[in-house]
Amino acid sequence: MSIVDVQNTPDHTEAGEVPPWWRQAAVYQIYPRSFADANGDGLGDIPGIISKADYLGGLGIDAVWLSPFYPSALADGGYDVADYRDVDPRLGTLADFDDLVDALHSRGIRVVVDIVPNHSSDQHAWFQEALAAGRGSVARERYIFREGTGPDGSQPPTDWDSTFGGPAWERVEDGQWYLHNFAIEQPDLNWSNPEVRADFVTTLRFWSDRGVDGFRIDVAHMLTKDLTEPLPSQAALDAMPRDGQHPMVDRDDVHEVYAEWRKVFNSYDPPRTAVAEAWVDKGRVPLYAHPESLGQAFNFDLLQADFAADQFLSVVTANLELAAASGSSSTWVLSNHDVVRHATRYGLAHPERDAEGRPTVKHGLEWLRSGGASSGIDREVGARRALAATLFMLGLPGSSYLYQGEELGLHEVAEISDAERQDPTFFRSEGEDLGRDGCRVPLPWHTDGPAFGFGGGGSHLPQPPWFADYAMSGQQGDPASSLSVYRRALELRRALQTEESLEWIATGRADVLRYRRPNGWEVVTNFGSTPFALDRDDSQVFSAEPLEGALPGESTVWFAPDDDR
Ligand code: BGC
Repeated sequence: MSIVDVQNTPDHTEAGEVPPWWRQAAVYQIYPRSFADANGDGLGDIPGIISKADYLGGLGIDAVWLSPFYPSALADGGYDVADYRDVDPRLGTLADFDDLVDALHSRGIRVVVDIVPNHSSDQHAWFQEALAAGRGSVARERYIFREGTGPDGSQPPTDWDSTFGGPAWERVEDGQWYLHNFAIEQPDLNWSNPEVRADFVTTLRFWSDRGVDGFRIDVAHMLTKDLTEPLPSQAALDAMPRDGQHPMVDRDDVHEVYAEWRKVFNSYDPPRTAVAEAWVDKGRVPLYAHPESLGQAFNFDLLQADFAADQFLSVVTANLELAAASGSSSTWVLSNHDVVRHATRYGLAHPERDAEGRPTVKHGLEWLRSGGASSGIDREVGARRALAATLFMLGLPGSSYLYQGEELGLHEVAEISDAERQDPTFFRSEGEDLGRDGCRVPLPWHTDGPAFGFGGGGSHLPQPPWFADYAMSGQQGDPASSLSVYRRALELRRALQTEESLEWIATGRADVLRYRRPNGWEVVTNFGSTPFALDRDDSQVFSAEPLEGALPGESTVWFAPDDDR
């Protein structure tokens, strides 16, 4: 492994300007409370991540994105932030954070942190002050407080639903109501208030000054709201076009916030980066990815697609066009902390579908409800397809976002009892939705020992016995393991990711996709079950070894440039 100090990475070469690192980066998402636990309290922590710095360095990733590690009552896995400029004492200290940045930077890995601006925790000093200060106070103006309806104001201001289920308003002791688009413990901040805006600029500077290289912006499309009275009903909101003027989501004026942030990002050398988590109509994604706004935006289309050539082809084509529209690069995601892991999705016997027959984001609900019945899944098929899909993705122009544990081929955990569940979506939907705990179970580092090497003690979500089969230590020396394939692909990827485009090459088969990058690298994926005859035998990395000159079903192969072709 070559160790590159990011601080010394040249910005320019003699041949010209080197594109910014984030355009075609492999970014590895860490969910800190479930990655590695150094103090044995069952909760992952920052020293735990530092202890795995060599592992991260050896993976071949360009950046780590840390999900929230801030003080939090954990009403929503840390996305309920009680202090935006500190580290949760259970996870470490600011000094530990600085050590982590050093440990990653010295291994050539950039650091991206999660910013959660739509809402704070109800434990945040501002919200506590708002509760104490009472109606009409300056403190309440930092959030969205309203009087209730009905003769005694005992009914919520509107019938709005929260994203996690249940009503979007909660009543406080003196009778007023506050808006929370997510959990009750996540009051929405008032982005019309200049003090709120100024405070987030302070936060962005705080972390940038500590050496953070970029930011992932949580629910970036919901910050600004038009709350002019009379407030519309939920039905009226649902019927309104999402054209930039919708009162609640994807408003044009949110980009005024990001234009201000952009000035902050660009005041650093190198400029800090940002990626938007914005669930908006496709045509509006470029607004977030625009260089004057956040600069890059997530595209979640692959995680809503079947493992099918036609779907992958249209997702890639559409998103490369969208990226071109903003001048940003595309992003690709197969797994994250909010969805069922892709190894599991691809192995499900009955993935959930919407009215038009397309896969929904709620993959695996039926199977999760069964507690992980083996009849509902073929784990081997899932793992095989997942690795093939990952290699297909890693070769694409743009940035790939990877989620901790996917390099191990890890499956979703369904064996979590109601009593052990943590996700507010489970509670707010009264068990209708089983939530996202199954992809947040602490990682297995060793095949045996306490918590499979996650830490010396327990694990805050239960690890099933089969985690032993996926442990990192068991895959290390095996060249055919999922981990080895990820490492090899991530190492080669740096040579492959030059000019940001691709050319599709006809394969004569509807279930086989082949693309060539301008530098000659080629990626071939067989989405079907019949082997596909290859016209070359010099593969560099494969998800399943080519047999007698053919690519087996459900597998991907990469070829390096061949000068004679
Ligand atoms: C995050 C979720 C979180 C929600 C509310 C999201 O989009 O990815 O994990 O629950 O925002 O902050």
